[in-house]
Formats: sequence, structure tokens, C-alpha cells
Amino acid sequence: TPRLFSGMQPSADSLHVGNYIGALMQWREMQQNYDAVFCVVDLHAITVPQDPALLRQQTRRTAAQYIAGGIDPEHSVLFVQSQVPAHAQLAWVLNTITGFGEASRMTQFKDKSAKQGNDSASVGLFTYPILQAADILLYDAAVVPVGEDQRQHIELTRDLATRFNSRFGDTLVVPEVQIQKETAKIYDLQSPESKMSKSATADSGVLWMLDEPSKTAKKIKSAVTDADREIRFDRGEKPGVSNLLTLHSTFSGTSIADLEAQFEGKGYGDLKKEVADVVVAEFAPVRERALELLDDPAELDRVLSRNAERASDMAEATLARVYDRIGFLPRV
Ligand code: TYM
Repeated sequence: TPRLFSGMQPSADSLHVGNYIGALMQWREMQQNYDAVFCVVDLHAITVPQDPALLRQQTRRTAAQYIAGGIDPEHSVLFVQSQVPAHAQLAWVLNTITGFGEASRMTQFKDKSAKQGNDSASVGLFTYPILQAADILLYDAAVVPVGEDQRQHIELTRDLATRFNSRFGDTLVVPEVQIQKETAKIYDLQSPESKMSKSATADSGVLWMLDEPSKTAKKIKSAVTDADREIRFDRGEKPGVSNLLTLHSTFSGTSIADLEAQFEGKGYGDLKKEVADVVVAEFAPVRERALELLDDPAELDRVLSRNAERASDMAEATLARVYDRIGFLPRV
């Protein structure tokens, strides 16, 4: 079976509906047909300042939401990045074959460092995509299912794997990106031109999986739409309505065209009410299961530790291959 790798940052208490649709739903589906490895990428999270106690909590909460969302930690591998040292080790090696200019072109770095003020952005934020490449390459992943915003990082991963192979001989698997076309990007409810993001300025624009159902419904009902009254999918002219249609379609399984027909002559209030219903129906059981799992953090920690061991075995093998190719002296 082909290998799959993906991950999320534990940079908030809850995943949002973009993470759920762009990543977790695909993961859940794909774990049936792939040898799947899912990671909570805490090393990535610390590229911007994190409070230690909160980071620990967010890491557990992220893992609990993977499981509650349908990732099976007995079948798939589900682990925390910092528990497998090989990630940092391979990242160092890849740093040495990445061009400074090449790293400087990463748009996520440019956005995030501009937001922080260029002088206070860390070097870790700059080399972030190289650590991400290490994550993927350590597991010989054939496929990486992500949202649209990660495309450039997976391209870099492919370039680095190809470069390493041509310099040192065939060693690393060059992965394919997998992005679900229509749902590759979910937008902020309050500023529907921007993607929904864990670091959004207004909480009201973000649908958190762990929000109370009533809060989720309220946020959807106050989502920004537009001045005309037509319910039609048009990303350019009607970003807010289009985003709501995407959410509805994803969870109801009804096509956008059918929804447009169904809502003809109806108002935005009708659309929002149905969107709230389908989102809450999807999230409520996931939320409850996640909160249950978080009631027993010791058990959760044990599951994660066991899985880190499984991940280490895979990662160590790749790292050993890489070290050997480079010419590092083996410890005997
Ligand atoms: P992160 O934590 O920002 O997001 C996790 C996943 O959710 C997707 N996503 C979205 N999809 C649709 N609409 C949105 N508004 C939206 N926001 C986020 C992301 O595309 C991602 O798939 N760099 C990665 C984490 C990472 C990783 C990896 C991913 C580290 N190493 C190796 C894959 C493979 C990130 O910041 O994701």
C-alpha cells in the first residue's frame, strides 16, 4: 500500500471548518486505502511564539480532534512531531541543500513575516517549509493531502527530494500533492476574500470545531453576504454566498447547482439557517467525542507515545539511509 503523510499545527485550541474540510475529511477517507501517517506538528507551531502550557494543551486537543474526526490511531499512525527527533535531524540536512533565494520565495513566509514585522520574525519561520519537507520525506510518502495554501510547500518538498537524489543517488521518494478542487479553500465568514485561518483577527469569522453548537449557528447567521439577494455561486462577485454554498454542499452532499435551484427565490436567511443545520449536525458528534477523549489526557498521551514509536521506526530508517548517502560516519 502506498504511504500518505499529512499534518496540522497545534496553534489553536480547536481546528476550524477549513482544516476539517481541506484536510481531515480527506484524511479519514484516504486512510482506508493508504498506509497513513498523521502528525501534530508542534515543532512548526513554535516558529511563532507559543505559551508552553497552552502549547501542551493545544497539542492534546489537536490530536483528540484527529481521532474524534475519524482518524483511527490503531490503524493509521497518529503522533506528535517533537517525539520523533528524526524530523529536526533531516530538516538540518535539507537546510544545506536549499537555496536562500528559494526559501525566500515561499509566500507563506512572506505573509507571516510581514504580519509580524520582518525584524521580529524568527529564522525558524524562514526554514519552516524545509522542516515540512523533512516530515514528508522521512516517511517515503507517495501522497500528501492538504488544502490549497500548502501547494507551494509540497512543490519545494518535491524539488528538494529530486535534488538530493540527483546529488547522492536515489534515496528519497518524490511525493505528489493531493488537493480537493472545490473545497481546497474555505473562506473567513466575516471577510470572505481571505481564507479562514487560525490566526484570524475576528473570532466571529472562524467556525471552530469545538465551539458550542449555538455559537456556530450564530456565527453562520451573521456571516457577511452582499447587497443583492440572489443565491448563486460566484467567487468573484459573491464570495460570502459562495463560501456558504460550499459549506452546505460539502456537508449535505447536494451539488452547488442543485442548491442554486433549490434556493431560487429564497433569501439569505433561509440559506444561512440550512448551512447552520448541516454544519452543526456534522460538528456536534465530533465535538462531543473530542471532549470525551480530553477527559482522559493520560490515556491520550499513551496512545500518542505508542504511535510515536511506530513513527520513529519508519523515520529512523530513512534518516539512516540519508546519513549514509551523505557520508556521515556510522556509530558502531
Ligand atoms: P495548518 O495547520 O495551517 O492547516 C492544516 C491543514 O488544513 C488546511 N487548511 C485549509 N483548507 C481549506 N480551507 C482553509 N481555510 C484552510 N486552512 C487550513 C491546510 O491546507 C492543511 O492541509 N504547514 C502545514 C502543516 C504541516 C504539514 C506538514 C502538512 C507541517 N508539515 C507535512 C502536510 C505535510 C500547516 O501549516 O497546516
